[in-house]
Amino acid sequence: GKLQVIDHPLIQHKLTIIRDKRTGTKYFREVVNEIARLLAYEVSREMPLEDVEIETPLVISTQKRLAGKKVVIVPILRAGLGMVDGMLDLIPAAKVGHVGMYRDHETMEPVEYFIKMPSDLPERELLVVDPMLATGGSAVAAIDALKKRGATNIKFVCLVAAPEGVKVLQDAHPDVDIYTASLDEKLNEKGYILPGLGDAGDRLFG
Ligand code: PRP
Repeated sequence: GKLQVIDHPLIQHKLTIIRDKRTGTKYFREVVNEIARLLAYEVSREMPLEDVEIETPLVISTQKRLAGKKVVIVPILRAGLGMVDGMLDLIPAAKVGHVGMYRDHETMEPVEYFIKMPSDLPERELLVVDPMLATGGSAVAAIDALKKRGATNIKFVCLVAAPEGVKVLQDAHPDVDIYTASLDEKLNEKGYILPGLGDAGDRLFG
């Protein structure tokens, strides 16, 4: 899918804060959620609307409201959890599905350990969220698992992405649009994003 880099000045400013290794857990969590909130605004830009007739205090009027079944925010555990509250601030009626995925620190291969999703997946839009798209292994495996359960309409939302991971995800799932706050330079030999922000899961949760 298409890659969209959301480089709003507020997002760039906040990204610098979470990239800084001196930023501690409490502040890191807060700012990750603030960025997630700003991303949610952009990601929801094309959500479908329908007409609804209401009465204002003066007249009957046809206005718009969001159409269709509620969106599902799908954090990839653990680090994706850090973005959920910020996304929910803007899309408060969203459902939340959970996908547990970790990278084997030796092989860097993603391992699935938990999945719990709301009903009616085929009719819903899914926003898969994870602060980092590194090799792309976790995102591809998570989206594989969601498609296996019937999901058809998926967007991937992250904070920092490596070009390598973007390519892997685009090749594996060409229908999935990718939204990131930053397209970083590259991966290091251990599969970490450079300049990146370190290990987001560890910085959020220890
Ligand atoms: C991190 C991150 C992504 C994944 C990205 O999770 O949150 O899920 O790595 O790497 P990839 O694109 O190479 O798959 P991690 O495995 O550290 O687990 P955690 O979130 O539970 O800490």
